[in-house]
Formats: sequence, C-alpha cells, structure tokens
Amino acid sequence: MTNDVPKRLQEPDLTAQTLNRFDKPSDLRLTEIMQALVKHSHAFVRDVGLTHREWQDGIAFLRSVADFSDDKRNEVILLSDHLGISAMVDLVSDREKTTETSATGLGPFYIPDQPVLENDSSILTSDVPGIPMWFEGRVEHADGAPFEGCIVEVWQAHEDGLYDLQAGEAINMRGTFKTDAQGRFGFTAVYPKGYPLPPDGPVKPVMDKVKSAFMRPAHIHTLVRPPERPPLVTHVFLPSDPYLDNDPVMGVRADLMAQVVDVSKGAERVPKTVAQAELIKKVRYTFVV
Ligand code: BEZ
Ligand code: FE
Repeated sequence: MTNDVPKRLQEPDLTAQTLNRFDKPSDLRLTEIMQALVKHSHAFVRDVGLTHREWQDGIAFLRSVADFSDDKRNEVILLSDHLGISAMVDLVSDREKTTETSATGLGPFYIPDQPVLENDSSILTSDVPGIPMWFEGRVEHADGAPFEGCIVEVWQAHEDGLYDLQAGEAINMRGTFKTDAQGRFGFTAVYPKGYPLPPDGPVKPVMDKVKSAFMRPAHIHTLVRPPERPPLVTHVFLPSDPYLDNDPVMGVRADLMAQVVDVSKGAERVPKTVAQAELIKKVRYTFVV
C-alpha cells in the first residue's frame, strides 16, 4: 500500500483525483469539456446530496430518453431544450453576434432536404384546418440592403400542434425558398397556433412533476443560409400569443416578433394559393444577417 492511497477519501479529493486521471490528453478541447463536466457534476451531486436511489432513477430516466429516440424523434433534444441547455448554447454561440437577428433553437423537428419550392407557393401538401396565412419574408444585410440568393428553409406545426413527423404523415408544412433581388421570399400555409411540447415521451412526466410550462407560443421555424455568411437558425413568433411570456424552451426574443395584418378577399393582390379565402393573415418579417 502506498502513502498516496487515502484511508478516507474526502469529497473534494475525489474530484481532484478524477481530474488527475486526464493527464496526457491527445485532444485538448475534449479534455477541457470533460474536466468541466467532472467539476460541475461532482458539485451537483454534493449540492443536492444525491442518494443512490435518486441516481439510479436518474440513470433509468436518461436511458429511457435515449431508448425513446429514433431518426424521426429525438427526445434528448427535448430534454436539452427543457433544461435551457439548447438556449444557453445558442447564447454562447452568438456571443460574437454574427447576425443582427437573434438565433434561437433548431428544435427536434427539422429535417434536411425539405422540398424546394417557388416563392409564394403553398407549403401544405394536404388540406389542414386553420386560417390561411401568407408569409412575406425579407433578408437584409446589416446596412439594410437586400440579400439576394439566400436559401431559406421553413417548417411549422399544424393548427393542432403536430408536425408532419409526429402526425406520421408524408412531408407537410415544410419548404425551401430562395430570396430574390429584393431579398424577398414568401410562402402560404395556415396561421400557426401555440402547441404543447411532445407529450408522449419520458420527458413530459418529469417536467409535470416540477410544474414546468409545456405550451410553446405560436411560431414558424426558419433556417436562413446567406451565401458566404454563417447560417441563422431562428423562429418567427406571432404577436399577442398568450404563451409568449412563458416559452418552455426559452426561445422568444423581442426582435423575433412578426408584423401581422388581416387582409380581406380582394383588398390586395395575394398569392393564388390563398386568393379564394375571405380572410388571410399576412405575416411579415425581416431577417438581418
Ligand atoms: C419546436 O418548436 O418544434 C420544439 C422546440 C423545442 C422542443 C420541442 C419542440
Ligand atoms: Fe416548433
């Protein structure tokens, strides 16, 4: 037995010993992350006085979150969103403010290769209930000049709060557009409503026990890819939504609020996909990248 082996290990010494084991790193950044993880997780266990039983429950919960996830539904993202981790990564990644418009959360329902569509066409592939909406977007440089040639992906939920992936249907309410010489793009769909976070996985029962909010304010997801500039992942929110003050995933920012006006039939030229509607909601938003 050597003198270095303690008779009774003290809590802080365990943290130091664990960190000492990462002594000849081949990946310095990974080592930095792992060391911080050790320090913060040890502090967490000590702060709350975590019991064996609670840690077993925690391990079972993490396992259920992973087991529930698949290619179409990632419950790990939902957990990260709920704990504010995704929003914190957004803030940290945005420290240098590469875009004027705030970046906020991709969420679990993005899929790459969304259909490429003409401007002002409909992103609906089936009849869905709801008030017809015309989204008129614009992408600008910081000096206000139009940004032509940006690829803009959009995706949103049905009025009943489900994304196509959740409803088990083919692609619906998603599209990819390109800004024109005025920096403009547009599409039609239905005016979104606030909706509950996916309730069918293992995250919801835990969040219910701590009375965490579950309703997201109405929004449209967007991913803007300007040529030769960093992409912007964000949401556009709709004013006067009752859930704006208590978004469970902390995605709301004041600059992400759209302008909405009601347009009656015949009052102005609207895309032909919504021209027959008595009333449409025209939603306008400018992204500054
Ligand atoms: C969403 O808005 O699609 C979303 C974001 C975070 C968690 C769940 C859903
Ligand atoms: Fe969403």
